[in-house]
Order: sequence, then structure tokens, then C-alpha cells
Amino acid sequence: MTMAEATSVTDIVSFKNLNVSPASVAMGARIEGIDLARDHGIEVIDHLRSLLLEHHLLVFPGQKLSAIELEAFGRMWGELLTHPATKHRDTDYVQFIGGKNRKFKLLPGVHPFGGGWHSDMTWHSTPPRITGLHARRLPSTGGDTAFSNQHIAYETLDDETKEQIADLEAFHTGKVFGPDVEDSVHPVVRTHDESARKALYVNGNFTKHIVGLTNDESERLLYRLFAHATRPEFTYRHQWDLDDLVMWDNRSVMHYAIGDYDETRIMHRFVVKGGKPS
Ligand code: SIN
Repeated sequence: MTMAEATSVTDIVSFKNLNVSPASVAMGARIEGIDLARDHGIEVIDHLRSLLLEHHLLVFPGQKLSAIELEAFGRMWGELLTHPATKHRDTDYVQFIGGKNRKFKLLPGVHPFGGGWHSDMTWHSTPPRITGLHARRLPSTGGDTAFSNQHIAYETLDDETKEQIADLEAFHTGKVFGPDVEDSVHPVVRTHDESARKALYVNGNFTKHIVGLTNDESERLLYRLFAHATRPEFTYRHQWDLDDLVMWDNRSVMHYAIGDYDETRIMHRFVVKGGKPS
């Protein structure tokens, strides 16, 4: 056995002994005992991929990663997308999400970046399947992110609603980020391309109407689905520590950056390109 083989066998043994504990009833797992700046070989990523598929969201505490190291880790999951409105100064493939003085700006339809329930970039024709968010600077209080499991949301709908929405499609717009940003039409219920589990796929930030319904019908149905999709029973609320990296599956999960702070909060984010939702 060569030295390289010996190292990789040791790595496999140790990463399979990771400490994995549930983050909440609805979703999520906390993963301890891994340094993502170093431990991101193919076998490790495959193992983490199966944990993400099972739990929909993974919390990795204490990850000391520069933006470039975060990008390198992100690239192990697939092709990275850029975002029209946010770029880190060192790389286009890490998004810099920062701001302050955003406390309780509760005007209808007005959210700081990441506020309002959404799945990332659903206006894109191939929206990200995975997001990784890394906490770089945090307010002394507040600034949590809430997540909601959209498989459970779909599965707990009544049969009549499931039938009503089975073949519907919805229009999602990215124009909030600029006049040239694309719009897309996606199914209201999407089927996860790896687990084959169905999930609700509409959100208050980017979904503007349901194709083929009158404005009134569309608004009433969307409002009902938005309210159901974010019931507290389906959620996990992440209270950030510095250097936490949280990854989630946008095919299963919506999220909401809670704007209840007025000190600086800085996050670095990567998003991994997905397929066309179906
Ligand atoms: C996002 O929408 O991806 C940002 C979430 C956050 O800043 O908590």
C-alpha cells in the first residue's frame, strides 16, 4: 500500500465516525469532527452528500475558511453559479452578503437580502440545488436564519389541494435584481431528482403567479400555499456562531434571513447549479 492510499483509508475511517446529531425534528443535522478546509476529498463529499439527502440541511460548526477555500469546497459539489447582485471581491463564485441597520424593516414586499421565505434563485432556469452559507461576522444578537422542510409541507397538504396543484406551473421573476435578470416557469410541485420525493416549490419572494389562473385565483392559492409551507412545525431556526457553515438542499428547503438586528452581519455564500425543476 502506498502512503497516499494509507492516508485515504485513514480519512475514510475517520470521516465515517463523524459526530452527527439531529438539528431539529423537521430537518437538519449537526456534523462535528471534520475540517472542511482539509477534509473534502471525493469519498468525504459522497458521504456528506448522502447525509444532506437524508437531513436536507447540514450544520458544520467552527469552519475556518477564506472565501477562496469556501469556493474550493463548493466546487466539490458541482458547478457553481454566480449571482447578479452579490459578489465577493476575491471571486465571483462566492457571494458577499452583508449589511446593517436593517432592523424590523417590515414594509410589505421589502426585505433585506435573503429575507422573506424563498428557495434560492428560483427565477433561474436551472436554480441552485445546494447553497452553502458561512458566517463571517455576526451581530451580538439576532440575525438567525429560519428553514422550512418543503417535503413535509407537500406531504401534509390535503388530498384535494394535492390534486388541484399536481400539474400547475408558476412564474418566478428575478427582475428584483436587475432588468436583464431572467424569469422562469417551474412546476408548483417538484420531484427531487435524487430521492424522488415531492416538495412544494413556490415562494413569496420570486413566485409571482400561477400560470393559467386569473390573478384572483392565483393570489388566493399562492397565499394559502405560502402560509402552509412555513408552518412552525416544518421549520428549523439556526442561531449562528462565527465560522458556522450551513449547507441546505434548495430542492427540499426554503429559508428566511431574519432581519431583526442593526449591527453588521456578513455571510459568504456559494450556490451549486441544479437541473431544470420537474
Ligand atoms: C440567503 O438567502 O441565502 C441568505 C440567508 C441569510 O443571510 O441568512
